[in-house]
Order: sequence, then C-alpha cells, then structure tokens
Amino acid sequence: MKMQSNNVLLLIKLLTLNSLLVLSASQDFDFFYFVQQWPGSYCDTKQGCCYPSTGKPESDFGIHGLWPNRNDGSYPSNCDSSSPFDASKISDLTNQMRSDWPTLSCPSNNGLTFWGHEWDKHGTCSESVLNQHAYFATALSLKNEINLLQALQRAGIQPNGQKYSIGDIKSAIKGASGYTPWIECNNDSSGNSQLYQIYLCVDSSASGFIECPVFPNGSCGSSIEFPSF
Ligand SMILES: *[C@@H]1O[C@H](CO)[C@@H](O)[C@H](O)[C@H]1NC(C)=O
Ligand SMILES: *[C@@H]1O[C@H](CO)[C@@H](O)[C@H](O)[C@H]1NC(C)=O
Repeated sequence: MKMQSNNVLLLIKLLTLNSLLVLSASQDFDFFYFVQQWPGSYCDTKQGCCYPSTGKPESDFGIHGLWPNRNDGSYPSNCDSSSPFDASKISDLTNQMRSDWPTLSCPSNNGLTFWGHEWDKHGTCSESVLNQHAYFATALSLKNEINLLQALQRAGIQPNGQKYSIGDIKSAIKGASGYTPWIECNNDSSGNSQLYQIYLCVDSSASGFIECPVFPNGSCGSSIEFPSF
C-alpha cells in the first residue's frame, strides 16, 4: 500500500515535470507580428477577391493575423494538431470578427475558413500565452488600440488611388501609435506597387505593442498607391 502511493506520487511528479517541459518548449517564439490588410489592395490584384457571404466589408483595414515570430526572423507554424480551430469557442466574438477580421478569399464564405487557418497555423504556436478565445479576443482589442486608417487620413493619406511616399505612411503611423510599422506591398492588376499590409509588433505575452525586434524581408517602391475600396 505504502509502496503504491509512493509510486503514484512519483508518477505525478514525472507528469508535472513533463508538462512543464512541454509548456516551456511550446513557447518557441519571441514576439508577435500583428498584421492588418487593406481590402482594396487584396481585391484589385490579378487574382481578385470575393466578398464574404455577409456582404462587402467596411472601407477599413482588416485583421490578417497575430503571428508568433522569432528574433532571427523565422517563425513556428502548425504547432498543435491536437487543438484544432473550434468555432464554438469564439461564438461570442464572431459578430465583431465579421467586421474587423473579414475574409476576402474565394469562393465567398462566412470567414470560418480564414479564422481556422490563422488559428491552426499561427495561434497553436502561442497557446502557452493565449488559448483559442484569448487569441482572437486579443487580436480584436489590438485593432481597437490603433486606428490605422484614421492615423493615415489625419496625415492626408487617403484611400483614393493616389500615390504616397512610404516614409510619410510610416511616420503617420509612428506618430499616432508610437511604434514604427513595417509596410508590405503587392501589385495591382496593372503592376503598380501598392499599400497591402501593415505590420506592428506585440510582446511575447501579448500585453501590448513594442518596437519590432526584426522586420520581414521585402520592399515597396518609394512611392506607393493607396487604392480605394
Ligand atoms: C532576410 O534577408 C537576410 C539578408 O538577405 C537573410 O539573411 C535572412 O535570412 C532573410 N530573412 C528571412 C526571414 O527570410
Ligand atoms: C511586383 O512587380 C514587380 C515588377 O513587375 C516584381 O518584381 C515584384 O516581385 C512584384 N511584387 C509582388 C509582391 O508580387
């Protein structure tokens, strides 16, 4: 009897140690990229887009994702197949997600595929800090903290199809948020370089914005288009 309970204790100790190791190993990232996309630049490419089944999104930046990343520029992905996306865990957030995190992929759909992809590929790599509900809720609240479109518009940078300097775009966002963004461009169907995605960085416990430890690779023209939507 004595022997058995000692064994049980030992087993508990081993299991605890094991789960601590798993926990520390699973935080294999140093910060997050919080990425928002301009719908006009998603849709005016050769590939085009489809509006969600709930209708055309607002003319505003939409969330693309919250991506765990490492200081060396690499990133973990698809970290936990035992924790697949479960829409029932975020049913209280889906209304807000439809407006702040709209899908534009084809064929037209309700967004669950996009959100599920973001969770499965990126969210499962930060489960040590954010469970599924917290992952989506955190991204929504980060978007609320900095109104990118308003920051640009106050600096005279409007989504009107004109070209703006990348330096002016960055300083408008830095001025409003306090943090230097990274700008990703893509090409419209005629090959013009345009403002596609804006990256800001968030600390590894997802408590707030930080200056980016490292920026992605890639470059825009010095002057880029900001298409209407
Ligand atoms: C970015 O470019 C640098 C220099 O060319 C290279 O060393 C680095 O591996 C690249 N980073 C990524 C994430 O591709
Ligand atoms: C945009 O077009 C240029 C020139 O045609 C090309 O070099 C560049 O890779 C394209 N950029 C993207 C993001 O597709």
